[in-house]
Amino acid sequence: MRHFTRIADLDVTGVAAILDEALAWKKHPPGAHLAGKLLGMVFFNPSLRTRASFEAAMLRGGGNAIVLEVGSGVWKLEDRDGAVMDGDRPEHIREAIPVLGRYVDALAVRTFGALQDDTADAADPVMNAFRELAGVPVISMESAREHPCQGLADLLTIRERFGVTRKLPVTLTWAPHIKPLPKAVPHSFLLTAAAAGCEVRVAHPPGFDLHPAVMAEAQDYARRSGGSVSVTHDRKAALSGSHVVYAKAWGPVTEKAAASEAAARIAAHKDWLITSRTLAAAARDTVFLHCLPVRRNVEVSDEVLDGPASRVIDEAENRFHVQRVLLDKLLEGTAC
Ligand code: CP
Repeated sequence: MRHFTRIADLDVTGVAAILDEALAWKKHPPGAHLAGKLLGMVFFNPSLRTRASFEAAMLRGGGNAIVLEVGSGVWKLEDRDGAVMDGDRPEHIREAIPVLGRYVDALAVRTFGALQDDTADAADPVMNAFRELAGVPVISMESAREHPCQGLADLLTIRERFGVTRKLPVTLTWAPHIKPLPKAVPHSFLLTAAAAGCEVRVAHPPGFDLHPAVMAEAQDYARRSGGSVSVTHDRKAALSGSHVVYAKAWGPVTEKAAASEAAARIAAHKDWLITSRTLAAAARDTVFLHCLPVRRNVEVSDEVLDGPASRVIDEAENRFHVQRVLLDKLLEGTAC
């Protein structure tokens, strides 16, 4: 594995292997397997869990990390090919990426989409420029298309609770928000759960479809893993017998003309708030997952987040565990 910026870099067998190893390392941590290794972390967007868990994984592994926040003590970076750079972005990623690659052993990158055009975001131009130009391994800390470390942490949490993922009914449900959010997290949960063989049910209001290329990729994984993928606008039907309720807000299908109407289109579905009544429609042993951060009582009620079904803190912890394994593979660490 040269880079890890999408579930396709692991495929069905790789997802299972990373989850197996992360489970083993939780029981028997690997020690200073990253001694002498340096990770450069480039943030175009803010973070809490991603930044802290990557830094923790590097430091606890005996390595080190440097953090660069683009536009905050670091030049604003232009990413458009052919841009006339007469605005407020004095450096182009075509120079910045290979320069950074000369200083570190791997680059981790967070770069959200513009949310103006789903197909442009799904093409993931900035992350793919890092893959092309870095000269060192690149790992995604969430891009315009996917948040693959989140997807692996989600499935690790499910594996820990249920032991097996093959044929396990899980529901990814849309949740309301105050503004349109990216589709990277739902894309990654869908892809990773499909690769892990789950019976994935996606529930969302009309007009909030995930990107068709990602749906097709998930269907391919499901065919090969023994899982399945279905989509419905009837959340109650999706939840019936579901052992996982995964909530996430995301924006409507966005063409350039429709972007300005997105907030109003979301506000029309406030009744998709996740409450204890929502969970009551699922299996009795269902667990509740959300990648965090979460807006309480806008996306999910207090009673769900504070209730017995919630695994959101374990899920956030598991970011550390899967990333430690991934960093070992990308940085050619010394764990055995
Ligand atoms: N889930 C997640 O990626 O959290 P942060 O945005 O805080 O990093």
